[in-house]
Amino acid sequence: MTIPLLQTALRDDLQAVDRVLREALHSDVALIGQVADHIIAGGGKRLRPALLLLVAQACGYRGSHQHTLAAVIEMIHTATLLHDDVVDESALRRGHDTANAIFGNSASVLVGDFLYSRAFQLMVTVDNARVFQILAAATNVIAEGEVMQLINSGNPEIDETTYRDVIQRKTAKLFEAAARLGAVLGGAAPPLENALARYGAHLGTAFQLIDDVLDYTGDHAAIGKNLGDDLAEGKPTLPLIRALAVGSPDEATLIRGAVKAGGLADFRPVLAALQRTGALDYTRASAEAESRQASACLAALPPSTCREILLELPAFAVTRAF
Ligand code: IPE
Ligand code: IPE
Ligand code: MG
Ligand code: MG
Repeated sequence: MTIPLLQTALRDDLQAVDRVLREALHSDVALIGQVADHIIAGGGKRLRPALLLLVAQACGYRGSHQHTLAAVIEMIHTATLLHDDVVDESALRRGHDTANAIFGNSASVLVGDFLYSRAFQLMVTVDNARVFQILAAATNVIAEGEVMQLINSGNPEIDETTYRDVIQRKTAKLFEAAARLGAVLGGAAPPLENALARYGAHLGTAFQLIDDVLDYTGDHAAIGKNLGDDLAEGKPTLPLIRALAVGSPDEATLIRGAVKAGGLADFRPVLAALQRTGALDYTRASAEAESRQASACLAALPPSTCREILLELPAFAVTRAF
């Protein structure tokens, strides 16, 4: 399964989601439309809405709320990206200059807030208390994850457990919520709902682990983001944490200094240390383990085309080049 294949399989549904998104972004305030349109129309894999749609269909959902909730998930994701690019001082996203680079940090933060609140306006049209509870809780946990990451930046003493806690919150939680919402729409019994939520959490964890590898070794044109943003921000991601733990004293000194200082002056020697210590392979192996755990969570899901696609997504998350 590749993203183009996924997009073909879900073409009509994803088009419906984009219609909901476009409608939801209308505002009398021109700058809101400009910024929101810049990022939403700028592309993106639409992986989280696809996850919700696949799970809902695999659970036999036949109602009309799936496109609304998939759009809500994508709006929350987009709001976090607007905020994240300000915090990370990132200049490229989805192959275009970031909103903060074009419109400034203030506009990005405020339009991110607009997206969050519009997402909640849309959410309440699906009159379901479970849905409210899942989305409210997830959004709150994501914000905690981003704040934890901010606190940890520049700190080379962060360990793997703390790192995992951060990515669980900032990234895996939204995947988990997308999968759980699909299950709730489909009326899955609690054990199946929980298994599907765990599937989403493992998939999201694998996805972020690979994102953190790609930040060092990805193809800049393919990922549509600049390489080295994590090191520039002094972000202690798993590749650095692992190299610090198993590298030579000189490599440890180099990495500690680079995390504390931030910036890209040491990018090349740090990358060489990540390669020599096997830290990138270690991170990939960790993502593969998450991906296997994700697939195992689908055991109780009845056979269907959507289930087949769900079974292939974990492999995509770890082999992806973008
Ligand atoms: C980017 O997510 C943020 C992370 C959690 C790594 P995606 O890689 O899904 O971003 P888009 O939506 O495809 O641009
Ligand atoms: C994911 O972390 C951010 C969110 C979940 C909002 P990153 O900072 O690694 O994401 P990218 O690399 O900027 O897409
Ligand atoms: Mg970022
Ligand atoms: Mg990243």
